[in-house]
Amino acid sequence: MNAVTQHDPARVANRMMALAETSAHTPMGKVLRKFWHPIELSSAIAPGTSKEVRLLGEDLALYRGESGTPHLMVNRCAHRLTKLHTGWIEGESLRCMYHGWKYDASGQCVERPAERPGSETGIRVTTYAVHEYAGLIFAYLGEGEPPVFDLPRKPVFERKDVMLFQRHEVWPCNWLQHAENSLDALHVSFAHQTGIVGVFGEAVSTTVPELRYEETLAGVRQTAIRAEGETSHVRISEWTFPYANHVALPPLTAGAPWMEVSNFMVPIDDTHTNRVTLIAVESTTPTADADMRNYFAGCESYNAADHHDELFAGVYPEDPLICLTSAQDYVTLVGQGVIADRANERLASSDRGIAMLRRILWREMEAINTGQPTKPWRRNEDAPVLSKSVETASLAAA
Ligand code: FES
Ligand SMILES: [Fe+2]
Repeated sequence: MNAVTQHDPARVANRMMALAETSAHTPMGKVLRKFWHPIELSSAIAPGTSKEVRLLGEDLALYRGESGTPHLMVNRCAHRLTKLHTGWIEGESLRCMYHGWKYDASGQCVERPAERPGSETGIRVTTYAVHEYAGLIFAYLGEGEPPVFDLPRKPVFERKDVMLFQRHEVWPCNWLQHAENSLDALHVSFAHQTGIVGVFGEAVSTTVPELRYEETLAGVRQTAIRAEGETSHVRISEWTFPYANHVALPPLTAGAPWMEVSNFMVPIDDTHTNRVTLIAVESTTPTADADMRNYFAGCESYNAADHHDELFAGVYPEDPLICLTSAQDYVTLVGQGVIADRANERLASSDRGIAMLRRILWREMEAINTGQPTKPWRRNEDAPVLSKSVETASLAAA
């Protein structure tokens, strides 16, 4: 930070606020619109049904045609602007409930029952690309052709021997608090030891980690090393631009395989975030698999935001992993405010990952502002072991 910014609180506040903004006319909104975003669980929408989703401040009508193919369009009828998702599906088209105007999957109006046939040709609504992957529906709201669907992919989600589970929670705070939390491995030694210590808190321990960060082709690799005598626990987060944290979670029962998880911190708008979680659990025995399916079915509808008052009063869910860690993160992130006032915080040495993330975001916004190309983020081909125990002595030279 130079002398000018140190003595210009308004400029600092504006610069910090620019990081959080997601609408289409803002630099960060333009950065975010260059990526695919998960908007809904595949299981949440049946063929021939529609629902409203909100992404980056835009209300959208998501529907599945009768073939099962998902489609996405702005949720405003071109006629008198009512919400399109309240209408009904005919084949792959959506008909508005108000006066029956019908739009095909490209957004072209193809029928106006009260008007002369053929008079609808110049009328259309904007549609967006969608892509289904691993039980999630992703959308691309940017300009031009969408990027090849590659960055969100992980080898583990495409293995035949894993079970996939999907869930999401909507929290009343800005997306960047979630993204920054992902690059703050220290919080695990504190926030996840609060209220109830579940299997995650136990596995990671209260030890303050040594933190390492490196920018990769896909995002940021965060390594947290917790030395405990002769053995150290190494935990890697393969953080993927612009907000997906790929990590390992400990199993619910000792000896079972660790799980791999991608957490997508999807901006609904500037004040709400959709935390979409995709979990891969290695299939082992029929009984263990059934136990995992039961466990995730039990977590499916948990949303920490529904328990706001009790969580802030220190009452945590009696759950060993998913709901509990979610509740603990909820209290810290929502506790920062709806949009954290970053102009008044004090970053410390343990916040190096957050500082790196902000530098990257400012760099990408600056490229947008000056008409330069942004970084061509691509998937890391290698897949490091995300959680392992190693001899402490072997880390000294690394
Ligand atoms: S508002 Fe949609 S048909 Fe009239
Ligand atoms: Fe956390």
